[in-house]
Amino acid sequence: MNDTFLRACMGEKVDYTPIWIMRQAGRYLPEYQAVRKKVDFLTLCKTPELAAEVTLQPVDILGVDAAILFSDILIPLEPMGVKVRFLEKKGPQLRPVMRKKRDIEKLTVINPKRDVPFVLDTIKLLRRKLRRKVPLIGFSGAPFTLATYMIEGGSSKNFLETKRMMFSAPELFHSLMKRITETTISYLSAQIKAGAQAVQIFDSWAGALSPDDYREHSLPFVKRTIEELKPLGVPIIYFVNNCGGLLELARTSGADVIGIDWRVDISKAITRLGKGVSVQGNLDPLALFSDEGVLEKKVADIIKKGRRARGHIFNLGHGILPQTPPEMAKKLVQMVHELSG
Ligand code: CP3
Repeated sequence: MNDTFLRACMGEKVDYTPIWIMRQAGRYLPEYQAVRKKVDFLTLCKTPELAAEVTLQPVDILGVDAAILFSDILIPLEPMGVKVRFLEKKGPQLRPVMRKKRDIEKLTVINPKRDVPFVLDTIKLLRRKLRRKVPLIGFSGAPFTLATYMIEGGSSKNFLETKRMMFSAPELFHSLMKRITETTISYLSAQIKAGAQAVQIFDSWAGALSPDDYREHSLPFVKRTIEELKPLGVPIIYFVNNCGGLLELARTSGADVIGIDWRVDISKAITRLGKGVSVQGNLDPLALFSDEGVLEKKVADIIKKGRRARGHIFNLGHGILPQTPPEMAKKLVQMVHELSG
C-alpha cells in the first residue's frame, strides 16, 4: 500500500511529498457528473456503492495519495433533528434554524450505527476496494462550522445570526456547540472504527472569528473532539480556512496536521506552528486556471518551503472549484510527485 500520506502526517521519512485535493471527488470531473445525473446529491451520499464509486474516481483518474470518503459535513445534522436539503444553485438549506432554546434542547446526539449506517458501510466497502492502493480519510465539520449552518439555516456571508447568538447569548450558543461536539465525537469515532485511516476536521468558517472569539467559541470544542479521538490512534488533520490570524491557537488543538489556506506563506506558517506538527496545503485553488509554467513555479515554491515542516502533505488551500479543467488537476498531481521525488 502507498502509505506516503500517513507517514507525512506523522512526520516520518517519505520519498516524495504526498498530495490529495480537498473536494477531489466532485463536479469538475465528468465521471462524477455522469453518476450525479442519475441521483440527487443526498441519495449519492446515502448509497454506499455510488458513494464508494465517486470516492475512487480521483484516485484512479488523478493518482492522488489518499482517498477521502464521499459525503458531506451536513450529513450528521439530519439525525440530530434538522431537515437538510440541497437546493440546485442555492446550496444547502437547514430547517428549523437553531436560534431558540426550545429548538436546541430538542437536538439529539447521534448514534452512527443506527442513524448513518450508510457512511460506515461506505467506509467498509472502500477499505476492501482500496486494498494495496491508498489510505482512506474520514471527515466531519468542526463544531463551529456546523453551528453556522444550523443557526443561519444555510451558507452565510457575515454569520450575523451566529455572532448575534455568540455575543448576546453565549450560554445558549455553547449549549448548541456541546451537542454538536458530542455528535462529532461519536461520528468520527465510528468512522475510525469502521476503517477510516485518518480524519480531517473542516473548520471552514472559523477564519471569520477574531482570535479571542475563536479561542472562546470554537477552539475548546475542537480540542475536546481531538482529545476523545486521540486514543483511537489515527492521524487527525485540522483544517482552518482563513487561518492567518489563528495559527498559534489552532496549533494548540492537539491535531497531528494543521491544514492551511493559501492566504498565508507556508514557510512563515511552519515557523509559527513549530516542530511538533505536520502541515497540509496550500496552493490557491485558482492557480489551476493558469498555464503550466506559472503553476509549476507556484508548486515548486510550496514544495521547497514545505520541506521545513516535520511533514508536508500537498493540498489546495480550499476546495477545488467545479470549473477546474480536470487535466490541470492531473498535471498538479504529476508535478508534485516529480518535483518532490
Ligand atoms: O473532498 C471530497 O471530495 C469529499 C466530499 C466532500 C463534499 N463536501 C462533497 C460535496 C467534502 C469533504 C465536503 C465538505 C463540506 N461540505 C464542507 C467543508 C469543506 C469546505 O469546502 O470548506 C462544507 C462547508 C460543505 C457544505 C456544502 N456541501 C455546501 C455549502 C455545498 C453546496 C455548494 C456547492 O458546491 O454546491 C455542498 C454540496 C457538495 N458537497 C457537493 C459535493 C461534491 C456538490 C453537490 C452536487 O453534486 O451538486
